[in-house]
Amino acid sequence: MANVGPGFDILGFALNQPGDEILVEKSGENVHSIINQSGLSLPLDPVKNVSTVAIDSMLNQLGSTQKFRLTFLKKIAPGSGIGSSAASSAGAVYGANHLLGSPFTNRELVPFAMKGEEAASGSAHADNVAPALLGGFVLVRSYDPLDIISIPGPDQLYCSVVHPDISIATKDSRKILKTTVSLEKAITQCGNVAGLVTGLITRDYRLISDSMHDVIAEPVRSFLIPEYEKVKKAALEAGALGCSISGSGPSIFALSEHEDIAVRAGKAMENIFTVAGIGSNVFISQVNKQGMNVMTSE
Ligand code: HSE
Repeated sequence: MANVGPGFDILGFALNQPGDEILVEKSGENVHSIINQSGLSLPLDPVKNVSTVAIDSMLNQLGSTQKFRLTFLKKIAPGSGIGSSAASSAGAVYGANHLLGSPFTNRELVPFAMKGEEAASGSAHADNVAPALLGGFVLVRSYDPLDIISIPGPDQLYCSVVHPDISIATKDSRKILKTTVSLEKAITQCGNVAGLVTGLITRDYRLISDSMHDVIAEPVRSFLIPEYEKVKKAALEAGALGCSISGSGPSIFALSEHEDIAVRAGKAMENIFTVAGIGSNVFISQVNKQGMNVMTSE
């Protein structure tokens, strides 16, 4: 879940749901192979798939010619704004690193996973791959040099994500953003990011709520999402602390202090899409603290 409202390209957190599974195996062949068992459309060419782009950047660093076979059971739809390409890139380098005897820590894997993000969106941002690898809330304080900071958050924080049945490529939703920001907006955004991070660390739900405002990306991107303002209003009226675009959209997320509020907010958000004749999927998830994990090593 990238951006978290005001933290465009610098703040993200990991989700338990929907969650992807990747079977990563060492291969004796001379090219990587990709098998798609997801029922979702994925590029099978290892030169184009973000997962193998990310693995190759890791192998280059190691000077290794090892190849891998990756079988995808993806549940995060590409173009959903829930970090589908990030989950593939991060999961692939995590699995390959594990099979190579873990020469890298999860933190050291972030730049390799960013190469996958770059291939997918034209920009090597880390606000989705870093939380996917490390779990919890992550702040990218700086890209040059890369400085990634894990932020503690309240235990009782639930996320409702509603994915409407439309697809938006991150590349496209980045292209429409303005490349300059007024001083007034920069001040507002900085205040909200600082407030949100402080609210998370001090477990101050009121401050989290007061700070979840994005004056840079949301006003531009929300036009790409049908019913956006109504969905946001419905989430806030259901008691959510805040609501904004999930990553680059079209999914919309809300944060709530209790699970029952998150469920209520999710239903209220889904209902707006239903009334508008747009199908949607809802995921309710606590913030994932662990990040990637090995499900079985057989
Ligand atoms: N921070 C990124 C964006 C996340 O909003 O474009 C999507 O990958």
